[in-house]
Amino acid sequence: MPRQFFVGGNFKMNGTIKSITDIINNLNNAKLDPNVEVVVAPSSLYLLLVREHLRKEIEVAAQNVYDKPNGAFTGEISVEQLKSSGINWTLLGHSERRVILQEDDKFVASKTKAALDGDVSVILCCGESLEQREAGKTIEVVNNQLKAVAAEIKDWSKIVIAYEPIWAIGTGKVATTEQAQEVHAAIREWLKKDVSPEVADKTRIIYGGSVSEKNCKELAKQPDVDGFLVGGASLKPAFVDIINANQ
Ligand code: 13P
Repeated sequence: MPRQFFVGGNFKMNGTIKSITDIINNLNNAKLDPNVEVVVAPSSLYLLLVREHLRKEIEVAAQNVYDKPNGAFTGEISVEQLKSSGINWTLLGHSERRVILQEDDKFVASKTKAALDGDVSVILCCGESLEQREAGKTIEVVNNQLKAVAAEIKDWSKIVIAYEPIWAIGTGKVATTEQAQEVHAAIREWLKKDVSPEVADKTRIIYGGSVSEKNCKELAKQPDVDGFLVGGASLKPAFVDIINANQ
């Protein structure tokens, strides 16, 4: 079975009710490749708005979730709260949270476990900094991020892995097709060895970092690139062209 192409839109801390409504309307009226799984992640404040008005074949993701079920955790959101709002996905481990909010591999792994235990699927982000790449540590860094998760969970069927090199995020400096393919293949190899050949075969590994309507087609041709996690361009009408990259 080929892996279904997957395109995520990470709105990050962008948008207001007006502009998010424009994005919803644009997606609702667009002709989208029916073979592509699409998930969008607005700010938590707009999750309900998006879930209510967006066409139902597009799933909605939170950008983060906490690993405790409830209680005195000011500002956090639980898995149960997501589920009760019709939200079946969350991003976890985005580099902006790892770097700016100082989330470590263990915390990301614990949140991944909590999400899966509560039947919320996870777009699990990993990726190296420019310094780490230049030191030849890309594969080691990415593998360590994923190993922390593998220590907590057994079932990978509700995980999509997003490889997002930090130096490519929001910079316009997209990874070359070779750079993306090399890391994706290494992640798949690691899955094969450390998890199982079946999981390696089935798990979608998507690329994020300056994906645009211009570079998506070439990236999509790589054998181990199973889709994209799109930041800036997911706020624009061109997001539709990225969803339809294979057409
Ligand atoms: P950009 O597409 O804006 O580079 O962001 C990528 C990203 O971080 C998606 O999660």
